[in-house]
Amino acid sequence: MNLQNDLLLRAARGEEVERTPVWMMRQAGRILAEYRAVREKAGSFIQLATTPELAAEVTIQPVDLLGVDAAIIFSDILVVPEGMGLPYEMVEQRGPVFPRTVRTSADLDQLRVADPEGDLGYVLEAIRIVKRDLNGRVPLIGFAGAPFTIFCYMTEGKGSKTFSVAKKLLYTDPEFSHALLQKITDSTIAYLKAQVIAGADLVQIFDSWAGILSPDQYRTYSLPYIKQICDAINEVPVTVFAKGAFFARQEIGELNCQVVGLDWNMDAAESRQLIPNKTLQGNLDPCVLYATYDQIRAEVKKMVDTFGTQRYIANLGHGVYPDTDPDKVRCFIEAVKEFSAK
Ligand code: CP3
Repeated sequence: MNLQNDLLLRAARGEEVERTPVWMMRQAGRILAEYRAVREKAGSFIQLATTPELAAEVTIQPVDLLGVDAAIIFSDILVVPEGMGLPYEMVEQRGPVFPRTVRTSADLDQLRVADPEGDLGYVLEAIRIVKRDLNGRVPLIGFAGAPFTIFCYMTEGKGSKTFSVAKKLLYTDPEFSHALLQKITDSTIAYLKAQVIAGADLVQIFDSWAGILSPDQYRTYSLPYIKQICDAINEVPVTVFAKGAFFARQEIGELNCQVVGLDWNMDAAESRQLIPNKTLQGNLDPCVLYATYDQIRAEVKKMVDTFGTQRYIANLGHGVYPDTDPDKVRCFIEAVKEFSAK
């Protein structure tokens, strides 16, 4: 089906655009009262994420309510470990928890390579419903966690500031670490390919914990697995967002991907130099959205002026914080549209 608004895809492919496309990581979520109402009805985050009709509904909400140029499928990166046989829980005010963790080869042997239709069919069904209901209005973004970030949660069992259990395994048991990373990678490739067949127009890889690794470790334990994913997905553009991996920008820019996501610590001009031939995405500090409307507009203008309007997708430098005022979000989105229009 032809898209009415294909700004995101044209920008990703490096084609000319009349204005810069804009969307927001975590746009489908708690900032919207309409999301909270559907989540209430579902009963829990996991119920919502595994009920395709409801997941589809909250995926489309930001398109209607915020005016973003793309939808991102409502799900979580942790559905992949779940699909491999490691269930998670979402604990209110605390975040995700894996009651069982994976720290030895014996633990790993219990897990399977996820079968997309069998183990993650509810996400694929949600994608098909979103594509039907969006009816070509904007592109749909699919996603998965980068293998290293998923490894962090599977081994640690919960969120952490340091992920020292996960990092300890890299030093003490490299063989196990690589074997687990490879199983996650195989699952992720099959899952992303299935998302594309179901209708995802672009896919993003979230390496949320990239920044806790040294450059050497990043080269050993994260990049090679992201590379496998990029090399396997050729049907649609791929975005790699590695939060905190300022030190690896050049190498990420050499991957077989079309877009590189930046966080707010990464300078726009310096990133353009390090990554000369790709579209960049980012990178407003989500905390700017706590400032006044005038300040938000001024920061957006500065951002669009330094990135330029082409080969650029405007976004925040990480997910929007749940207590952000939706009117401030609308101000951000409108300002990108205004300041980037030719
Ligand atoms: O971006 C979107 O709008 C699509 C939906 C989406 C969610 N999670 C929904 C969600 C996406 C793309 C994610 C990715 C995700 N999940 C990442 C990578 C991106 C990043 O933020 O770095 C990570 C690390 C996770 C793991 C995760 N899920 C954590 C740490 C938490 C708890 C923290 C929090 O925000 O509550 C979640 C829960 C989660 N995932 C929520 C949502 C809307 C909140 C739970 C709820 O609504 O009850």
